[in-house]
Amino acid sequence: MLANACCDALGLPKIRKSQGNGQNNGKAIDMRICMVGTGYVGLVSGTCFAEFGIDVVCVDKDAGKIERLKNGEVPIYEPGLEDLLERQIKKNRISFTTDLAAAAKGADAVFIAVGTPTRRSDGHADLTYVYQAAEDIARAIDGYTVVVTKSTVPVGTATEVERIIREANPNADFDVASNPEFLREGAAINDFMRPDRVVIGVASERARKVMRELYRPLYINETPIVFTARQTAEIIKYAANAFLATKITFINEIANLCERADADVQDVAKAIGLDKRIGSKFLHAGPGYGGSCFPKDTIALVQTGQLMGAPQRIVEAVVAVNDARRKDMAQRIIDACGGSVKGKRIGILGVAFKPETDDIRDSATLDIVPILQAAGATVAAYDPAAMEHAKKILDNVDWKTGPYEVADKADALAIVTEWNEFRALDLDRLAVLLKDQLILDFRNIYKPAEMQEAGFRYLSIGRPEIAPPARLKAVAGGSQS
Ligand SMILES: NC(=O)c1ccc[n+]([C@@H]2O[C@H](COP(=O)([O-])OP(=O)(O)OC[C@H]3O[C@@H](n4cnc5c(N)ncnc54)[C@H](O)[C@@H]3O)[C@@H](O)[C@H]2O)c1
Repeated sequence: MLANACCDALGLPKIRKSQGNGQNNGKAIDMRICMVGTGYVGLVSGTCFAEFGIDVVCVDKDAGKIERLKNGEVPIYEPGLEDLLERQIKKNRISFTTDLAAAAKGADAVFIAVGTPTRRSDGHADLTYVYQAAEDIARAIDGYTVVVTKSTVPVGTATEVERIIREANPNADFDVASNPEFLREGAAINDFMRPDRVVIGVASERARKVMRELYRPLYINETPIVFTARQTAEIIKYAANAFLATKITFINEIANLCERADADVQDVAKAIGLDKRIGSKFLHAGPGYGGSCFPKDTIALVQTGQLMGAPQRIVEAVVAVNDARRKDMAQRIIDACGGSVKGKRIGILGVAFKPETDDIRDSATLDIVPILQAAGATVAAYDPAAMEHAKKILDNVDWKTGPYEVADKADALAIVTEWNEFRALDLDRLAVLLKDQLILDFRNIYKPAEMQEAGFRYLSIGRPEIAPPARLKAVAGGSQS
């Protein structure tokens, strides 16, 4: 067991370990946690807690994942994670196992960070993995343990987890706390280490002390820590995600209006975002929100609202508008190709739901590609990090090694994910490669005037289209769109 924390790399204050009873008193004391579920959240949180100086055992039922981690391989793409993890492994602060019983024994806290996907039958959050983990934990814990739900779970789940543990192990000495996670993939480590706030729902002073001790480096750093009731913490997480999804959906609808009125949504977003009551974040018009959280969490919140007799009508509208937007993106490509993509070759740049991640869950590309294929198009695509995952889900895609290979002989090129690699493409080279000079930019990463100057027909989101110059295709010598 290590006595001192090392938060040097992230400039966090050093702490000494505590017994998990909240009484540090400058003594060199131990604290140990078990992280159940070693996905994006579990692995990042576990690694960051290790960086705080806490001993962490990460558990996953996926033996392959654990084997890779034991061999020092990081199974997800997350900037900075590999280095941080390597350092913690060298310091023996973090280890990996499939044996939950051994890992949870003697832990001060056991975090549940398993997936909570959408339940197919009704859209509710599927809590099978959470409840299974709770049962496994119940049998393993000894001594006072705080069981913490870090997964995003509907209001009331902490109470149910408590009931499950009590039923499985009536003698267990434990509390259940709710500690929803707000990290964003692609910036996960910084988000965990320097969060806007930490939310902790507890029902006992004992649990509160343990949780405060675990987050002590952030507490010392004056990160706002919101202690509240467990059910409130659970709602905070859904309210935050639903609000952000609403903001995105709002600006997307304003973008539609801008397109009809020859107005510029980016100027609208900038101007309204300068109002401090509104703020500039999450006002980027695009192909609709996606990813591992917003789609499932908005749907789950709608379900919870309906179940509890408090319908979330704004969020219901957000879900419907966003769903329709995905189909609309594919239709935009079809329309831009003259109403049909039959026999055409469409190049797609980006499959990950956002840059700096290999996560493709609910990404726009997953919706767009099958619609284009069903309409008779051939699709070529490239993503810097997510292609291996995408290959398992999207059939008959011509996977390429880079953006220019995708553009080669394509009738249209659509930018769906705003990877940096796509932000400064050689436009002259693209002009030569593309069969038709048609680019659809669903992320507004280029300037319409610049694209017009380069000879493209350029369609973006919520910005006026500038007619391309007559010398269109002169460079490439191919057909015109
Ligand atoms: N991904 C994000 O950006 C993010 C951000 C905030 C919150 N969340 C929430 O965190 C939770 C986890 O999300 P994620 O993206 O890390 O999921 P994930 O699918 O990447 O990882 C979940 C892991 O849990 C493992 N698992 C499932 N049941 C288990 C069990 N009984 N014992 C041991 N391991 C088990 C799975 O094998 C998997 O490796 C979800 O509720 C999600 O909504 C995710």
